[in-house]
Amino acid sequence: MRAEDPRPVRLAEYRPSDFLIDAVHLDVSLDPEATRVTARLAIRPNPLGRENAALKLDGEDLNLVSAEIDGAPLRVDDLDVTPSSLTLANPPRGPFELTLTTLVDPSANTRLMGLYRSNGAYCTQCEAEGFRRITYFLDRPDVLAVYTTRIEGSEAETPILLSNGNLVETGPAGDGRHFAVWHDPHPKPSYLFALVAGDLGVVEDEFVTMSGRRVALKVFVEHGKEDRAHHAMESIKASMRWDEETFGREYDLDVFMVVAVSYFNMGAMENKGLNVFNDKYVLASPETATDGDYANIEAIIAHEYFHNWTGNRITCRDWFQLCLKEGLTVFRDQEFTSDMRSRPVKRISDVRGLRSVQFAEDAGPLAHPVRPQIYHEINNFYTPTVYEKGAEVIRMLKTLIGPEAFRAGMDLYFDSHDGQACTIEQFIACFAEVSGRDMTQFLRWYDQAGTPEVDIRTAYDADRKTFTIDASQKTPPTPGQQFKQAVVIPLALGLVDEDGSDMPLVIGGAPAAPVIALTEENTRIVFENVERRPVPSLFRNFSAPVKLRSDQSVEDLLFLARMDSDPFNRWQAVQTVALRGLVAGVAALREGREPAEEPRLAEAIGRAFDPAETDCAYAAQIAALPSEGDVARELGEDVDPDAIHSARSYLKASLRQRLAEPLAAAFDRLAERGPYS
Ligand code: SER
Ligand code: ZN
Repeated sequence: MRAEDPRPVRLAEYRPSDFLIDAVHLDVSLDPEATRVTARLAIRPNPLGRENAALKLDGEDLNLVSAEIDGAPLRVDDLDVTPSSLTLANPPRGPFELTLTTLVDPSANTRLMGLYRSNGAYCTQCEAEGFRRITYFLDRPDVLAVYTTRIEGSEAETPILLSNGNLVETGPAGDGRHFAVWHDPHPKPSYLFALVAGDLGVVEDEFVTMSGRRVALKVFVEHGKEDRAHHAMESIKASMRWDEETFGREYDLDVFMVVAVSYFNMGAMENKGLNVFNDKYVLASPETATDGDYANIEAIIAHEYFHNWTGNRITCRDWFQLCLKEGLTVFRDQEFTSDMRSRPVKRISDVRGLRSVQFAEDAGPLAHPVRPQIYHEINNFYTPTVYEKGAEVIRMLKTLIGPEAFRAGMDLYFDSHDGQACTIEQFIACFAEVSGRDMTQFLRWYDQAGTPEVDIRTAYDADRKTFTIDASQKTPPTPGQQFKQAVVIPLALGLVDEDGSDMPLVIGGAPAAPVIALTEENTRIVFENVERRPVPSLFRNFSAPVKLRSDQSVEDLLFLARMDSDPFNRWQAVQTVALRGLVAGVAALREGREPAEEPRLAEAIGRAFDPAETDCAYAAQIAALPSEGDVARELGEDVDPDAIHSARSYLKASLRQRLAEPLAAAFDRLAERGPYS
């Protein structure tokens, strides 16, 4: 068991480290039960730290063999070693070198944090606090060091020896052993350290960056699985190209490596230059993988690769800022998938996931802000709120300031913070600067938990030719946050005319942008010069992670399903009609009646099978009914799973009957295209 520290960690108590570590020389001599790690640490007092502070390094499950300062052995009395730390009460007041030798047992490491051994191979996982299980260290993300790593191991057992950075030297080490030396020139926090050693197969390729540098690409997999690694390799190249084209970000080492093994239990990890994956997120072959698997692998490869700039080059000051790298990187991988595949399909499936998982988290006992203020165990905060809601916050930022200002803000962030460990405030300040906008209220999205509920009522005045939207917002209480303040909610909208075109938006005599920031609890928007009653299309492309209640009629929704230029809202309109029908169906069943049919819903869904619809994945989303979970969420407290299931079965049966012909025709038409098209 881990030594538990019952004291929670609080954001408000953040203090810069008293010491910095500029360079780390690691010498790792691999052995199944007694791996010897010698760490030479170039340490100096931090000018921002406290004067004359003790040096307290983190450690866990380590066996200290020896310690030296500037080559002189330390005596036991100079050191205070506990299960979770190594303290020097009186370290030198200037720069010094601390050399520590420790023994670790990779075979006994069943926590799979730090260095562990599985299937005869060695692997590490250091995020968030695993490096302290390899050697004593300042294991916090705001201590950035340049790493040089020498690995020595058995030639037979571990022909492959990998770490971060570029390979500088290899050679025999006697006794059937060999070594490799890796140097990573980019200062990084300890959580990005990685080491892999084993007998692995490899698939190789190359990428030429936008400035013409050649980067070797290697995907390591267990022997016999090489054939299934090609899709991952293609995904790496596509990710590298996309980050250059979309964000101007180039890869920065001579080699980029992915290791995929079946026993890696963190999913995937963005260690500098050496990403490590569970191989279910890498391997694919046409015989066994679905379209969804292909898309998922591409997205996860991209996610980890994109961390190279959002996470690695610019990292988090402390773990409260986790969303600085995760929310932003999820946003980036969502945009990548949107560009590679169908943008509306990606948006719809992300919103489905957000509503079913993150909204549920936000409404339950574990609700927490995108940036928590307090934790006992950081590993519990790798959550849908930090990742997925974190990505929605970035998307809102882009929606509010527009794509050009967003890109300019990202450029400023990369230019001004490269090589640093940052906070959310530093990130957001870049967008305030380029847009000239005050972002104080926007920051509430990071600190306030719960899903805002937005209620919208509309009214058309034919005499005055005005269309009025009354929007109110309220965020329900969450544990520890009873009272909520209004947040900035970007309402992307259109007023749709009879022919499906958007009417010009005029507010106060001037043209208005199609995104309105709802900043107050109650906002009234009056559009002028509105010649006919329009149908409003609200929260286009799901412009904010909120729950919408509106007075929109089924007629208006069915009109939007047909005519709206926004594909997300065409889908949403069908979903809303279906959801209302299902809720009514549940009520009917509970009163012992049969659910009523809604022939117009069948017609709206039937359009998915129109031969003119070329985005088949989008059509599939239109045809997919709200899930039982969606209905349950809509019902709130009073959930009757049997009734929900039956109501949905009724609706499916009715649709099946009404749509049998077009559905069969679509099936035949698509089957003619042949496999994998
Ligand atoms: N940092 C990792 C990620 O990419 C955690 O597994 O999300
Ligand atoms: Zn990530």
